[in-house]
Amino acid sequence: MKKIIILGSTGSIGSQTLDVVRQHPDKFKIKALAAKKSWQRLVKQAREFKVEAIALLDDEAAFRAQEELHDSEIVVLSGKKGIKTVAGWGDADMVVSAMVGMAGLVPTLRAIERGRDVALANKESLVVGGPVVMEAVEANEVRLLPVDSEHSAVFQCVNGEKLSSMSRLILTASGGPFRTWEAEKLAKASANEALKHPTWEMGAKITIDSATLMNKGFEVLEAHHLFNLKLEQIDVWVHPQSIVHSFVEFCDGSVLAQLGPPDMRTPISYALSYPERLPPQWEKLSLDLMQNLEFEEPRRKDFPCLDLAYAAGRAGGTMPAVLNAANEVAVELFLKEKIAFTDIARVLEKVMEEHNTVTKPDLDDILEADEWGRGRAREVGRACSPGK
Ligand SMILES: NC(=O)c1ccc[n+]([C@@H]2O[C@H](COP(=O)([O-])OP(=O)(O)OC[C@H]3O[C@@H](n4cnc5c(N)ncnc54)[C@H](OP(=O)(O)O)[C@@H]3O)[C@@H](O)[C@H]2O)c1
Repeated sequence: MKKIIILGSTGSIGSQTLDVVRQHPDKFKIKALAAKKSWQRLVKQAREFKVEAIALLDDEAAFRAQEELHDSEIVVLSGKKGIKTVAGWGDADMVVSAMVGMAGLVPTLRAIERGRDVALANKESLVVGGPVVMEAVEANEVRLLPVDSEHSAVFQCVNGEKLSSMSRLILTASGGPFRTWEAEKLAKASANEALKHPTWEMGAKITIDSATLMNKGFEVLEAHHLFNLKLEQIDVWVHPQSIVHSFVEFCDGSVLAQLGPPDMRTPISYALSYPERLPPQWEKLSLDLMQNLEFEEPRRKDFPCLDLAYAAGRAGGTMPAVLNAANEVAVELFLKEKIAFTDIARVLEKVMEEHNTVTKPDLDDILEADEWGRGRAREVGRACSPGK
């Protein structure tokens, strides 16, 4: 029985993880859960899975959860400290890191330092603190298992291979809802339009990142750290059907790929049960799904966030943390209709231009760069207005 903690259990990845656990009660036991402020959903999950502890970032939400759970023995914690405590709770075997954004970094590090394997959905942890996280993984001899479907695909393709025999990765991208939109129309794209992802159902932030291609840029950086590849070895191909989850090319020219219907429960299930595989209780690959698979170049000029991620990766140090911080702010401003879709990349570019990179940052340098990037992005964002 694998004992699991889920950080971000009320979100898209978190609830799909619970779906997998629900289907295999003999294999997994949930020990603790954490979320930001969705206390009602968290309380329901806590009761269903009979967990030992929960944490909510929001104090008021934690207070409501505590009131609701007064008749139980479930420990209710709050704030950043509470989330960190839950990340290291008890004697769990694995922590599923599925919070959104940079907020996932410190709890993920806490889980690693406590010697827990981590199933990583929170790609921002690696984007922002790649070297720090990978060093901690090595020092604590834990496994970092990718949940992102592309990285899970790569992980599966390289199973039993030497990482050094990989010559190239080709990460696939759905292209998002604006893949076929003309460039002039993009400036007028609304948040509602951007939130309609063609193939995946995900939280709001990653859905906007998919529309700008920033999500793919982040995945390039994630792959760079996870598989120890140079950025030049990582390509991106747009594949609107999201059936081929990524390709790995080896030094002899052979190419392996991993395929399946777009359902995050497959990579989640693989990360939870690795090295075993569990039978899927959802749609399997069919000949129908394999008709007319398309692949095309990303429109880098119209979706500049992809190249901004490569640039941040090349600059290294604190630059990816600043890119991520500015992106979190810009996405929020776009969702609140304070800036236009095309302003997101403009804000990032400007903030990156102004940043003095710290080349070998420790955690404090990263947190400082994150704070600076957020502040500067808010100022730059204020100077933009929708449609400009
Ligand atoms: N969704 C996907 O298909 C998918 C695929 C690959 C990778 N990912 C990655 O997985 C992560 C989660 O994505 P998602 O789509 O599941 O997001 P989501 O639906 O927005 O859920 C985010 C979860 O994190 C919690 N949370 C947010 N901010 C927090 C904070 N500061 N402190 C504590 N908890 C916080 C939320 O709690 P509340 O409910 O209380 O707000 C919620 O439980 C992201 O890094 C994303 O890039 C997602």
